[in-house]
Amino acid sequence: MVASGSDLLDDRDEAVFEDGAATAETDGLAPAATKRVFIKTFGCQMNVYDSERMSEALAAQGYVPTEEVAEADLAILNTCHIREKAAEKVYSDLGRLRDLKQGRSKDGKETLIAVTGCVAQAEGREIVRRAPAVDLVVGPQSYHRLPELLARVRGGAGALVETEFPDEDKFRALPQRKPQAAASAFLTVQEGCDKFCTFCVVPYTRGMEFSRPVTALTEEARRLVDRGVREITLLGQNVNGYHGEGPDGAATSLAGLIRALAAIDGLKRIRYTTSHPRDMTDDLIAAHRDEEKLMPFLHLPFQAGADRVLAAMNRKHTADEYKALIARIREARPDIALSTDIIVGFPGETDEDFAQSIALVEEIAFAHAFSFKYSPRPGTPASTMDGQVPEEVKRERLERLQQVIERGFARFNKALVGETVPVLFEKAGRHEGQLVGRTPYWQLVHADAPASLIGEVADVVIETAKANSLSGVLAADTVARQARAVPR
Ligand code: 5AD
Ligand code: SF4
Repeated sequence: MVASGSDLLDDRDEAVFEDGAATAETDGLAPAATKRVFIKTFGCQMNVYDSERMSEALAAQGYVPTEEVAEADLAILNTCHIREKAAEKVYSDLGRLRDLKQGRSKDGKETLIAVTGCVAQAEGREIVRRAPAVDLVVGPQSYHRLPELLARVRGGAGALVETEFPDEDKFRALPQRKPQAAASAFLTVQEGCDKFCTFCVVPYTRGMEFSRPVTALTEEARRLVDRGVREITLLGQNVNGYHGEGPDGAATSLAGLIRALAAIDGLKRIRYTTSHPRDMTDDLIAAHRDEEKLMPFLHLPFQAGADRVLAAMNRKHTADEYKALIARIREARPDIALSTDIIVGFPGETDEDFAQSIALVEEIAFAHAFSFKYSPRPGTPASTMDGQVPEEVKRERLERLQQVIERGFARFNKALVGETVPVLFEKAGRHEGQLVGRTPYWQLVHADAPASLIGEVADVVIETAKANSLSGVLAADTVARQARAVPR
């Protein structure tokens, strides 16, 4: 998959406004006089998780999710600030929401507009200044206060902006999850980052690293599994920096957390994202060798191939150190599929530097990679560095890089044709009788299979590799077909 977004920054924000997805079911518990909430999620999987948790907090207040923005009594834009375009899209959506609010108001209907997420944190009151129709601006650390803040807005408090980093733990203050019984779910285990890469806004918008305690996470995971979840992806901006309090009071590493989660019966697969090379500890590498439920897939951004650029980015590793790390990971788990993030056109990046990024992509043979044009983010050190690279140069480098990435992706997918792989089926496919699932390596697979296999892992013989997915037949069907072909 080649996208200008990453696991933590997918292309959801490219969706047209009308397609904005409402999130999480409310369990059918909404009271009679229901209000409707529309949530559009931009950016990363962490935002997807946060949107679900907000939806649950609002369900307790009688809000049911809607996918029709026109019927929303409350419209929330859960935003991403990592790229400039994303923030601008928020403002253009806010223009449309303002018109909708005015239209509904003529029909005597109230519409509240809230902006949450990283743009809310970064821009704060500026949002209300540029878009006065907005009623509420809430930063990522204060979602548990949404119902109370909405009540205050309703009570005539005027537009409210809440972007503090409060002392209380929002995860504890949010209501318990009532997720829908999907086969695969996200679980935020860590938030924030103190790495301060010079291009990145995360340390400013999400704050310092914070890890949730092991017990809270195993309990949340157990509840998810009880409701049918079979795969959990652990989320964190710097997830392998996880150091949550263990049951014994001592700090526990991500490997320790993975081991604790792997002990949950019924949980079949564990993944995690996004990691920093500096935090790929020996015990985490060993977990990739020893822990059967930990899937052979690792998203490990390297950002740039030239040491000069890496140093200016404050990545605290060189290209050789990254390569040596990959060699150790592959030694522990030879079939591991690797994925990465790369930025092109960082200030001062020369053609020669860029060629080293391409060379690294070729040498490591990534299964996936996400590539970005450098986007200066206000307040970050790189935004004022000398040597800002012209837009056309960035565009041209991105195109060249994406061609190399695409070739690698096709190669990786093709290598699986003819192989039998265990697929976790997640949902019905577009065609009658078809299911969609994922290989251990995160590739999408389509296969004809009975709906009873949703939430189950079944062997699939891969027959074809398409641009973004694989298709195959159930190994059991192949056996049956061969048996039928044998003359009796
Ligand atoms: N410009 C371009 N890409 C960025 N990323 C983070 N900040 C920027 C920026 N200012 C990319 C990095 C990161 C991914 C989530 O987004 O590659 O790993
Ligand atoms: Fe941003 Fe760097 Fe932290 Fe990743 S490690 S969230 S790129 S500061």
